Amino acid sequence: MQEIKVTLTKNPKKKPADESKLGFGSIFTDHMFVMNYDEGQGWHDPRIVPYGPIELDPAAMCLHYGQEVFEGMKAYKTADGRALLFRPEKNMARLNRSNERLCIPLVDEAFCVEALKKLVGIEKDWIPTAEGTSLYLRPFIFAVDPQVGVHPAKHLMFLIICSPVGAYYPEGLNPVKIYVEKNYVRAVRGGLGFAKTAANYAASLKAQDEAEEQSYTQVLWLDGVERRYIEEVGTMNVFFRIGDEIVTPALQGSILPGITRMSCIELLRSWGYQVTERKLAIDELYEAYQKGQLKEAFGSGTAAVISPIGQLKWGDEIMMINNGEIGEVSQKLYDNLTGIQWGKLPDTMGWTVEVK
Ligand code: COI
Repeated sequence: MQEIKVTLTKNPKKKPADESKLGFGSIFTDHMFVMNYDEGQGWHDPRIVPYGPIELDPAAMCLHYGQEVFEGMKAYKTADGRALLFRPEKNMARLNRSNERLCIPLVDEAFCVEALKKLVGIEKDWIPTAEGTSLYLRPFIFAVDPQVGVHPAKHLMFLIICSPVGAYYPEGLNPVKIYVEKNYVRAVRGGLGFAKTAANYAASLKAQDEAEEQSYTQVLWLDGVERRYIEEVGTMNVFFRIGDEIVTPALQGSILPGITRMSCIELLRSWGYQVTERKLAIDELYEAYQKGQLKEAFGSGTAAVISPIGQLKWGDEIMMINNGEIGEVSQKLYDNLTGIQWGKLPDTMGWTVEVK
């Protein structure tokens, strides 16, 4: 394994005084991980350096054609002061699936987990301890060739930055209001939808903006072809409890294969719930709602954790779900998932990795 050179900062920043006001993603720690790729040399020069601006040529390809991928994960501080990561190997495996789609050279997944552990070990004191807070980790790769022709890059950079965060949605665990998007689409099968890449998020901004203008937290995307089948919400996968079944859209290439989604399915099945990954049409969901069978809806994601959905607006119809309150399955999932992540519950699934 390559050696990671460490240069510590001489000017450590002040850590946030009030952890209840962290918000999401605007404070960054003292150090970052950096590694370069150059054709013929492969990934090289892994290093941890003081956090700061990077220099890019104005022609850098990522700025023009969006050849970029990223991951989102978290480090958690337990009551006895240990730092835990949650299934980091799954994120690095997904990073490589995104890399493959975006013509980005694959990374050594085991090495990247080690790099992450080393960085989090150095930034351990930045992991907040207030209820519901964690250290958000953002690995990302982008093309830096100074070249405005459209080709896969030959020179790239891989960085990991860290940000102490609270809840992603200001609502916290209170149910969010979601707008079912009819005009815009996020992705189509064969496109980039399953990859964690900037373009998917750029494509979502307009709809998100319009939904926010109407006081909705985010949009629920429908499939890009028939505009009928439920896909995902901007920053989370979705689940619906319909009668005795818990339904989540199947992974067919256009939605993100969430690590939290996967963990929810595994937990729910281990508790005996029937979880079905299938196509779910918005009109089927509405019909279930009208018959009183739609008992709960929630989203899952690293940033969003488990986020109950209290209201869905579809055209002129408003579906009030579980009286706008958190349902029992969402609550149970939230308690167990976060219990494992923060080391409050035994990790019976073997999902956490301690950073020494
Ligand atoms: C995550 O949940 O980690 C995400 O990447 C969502 C986000 C874009 C904040």
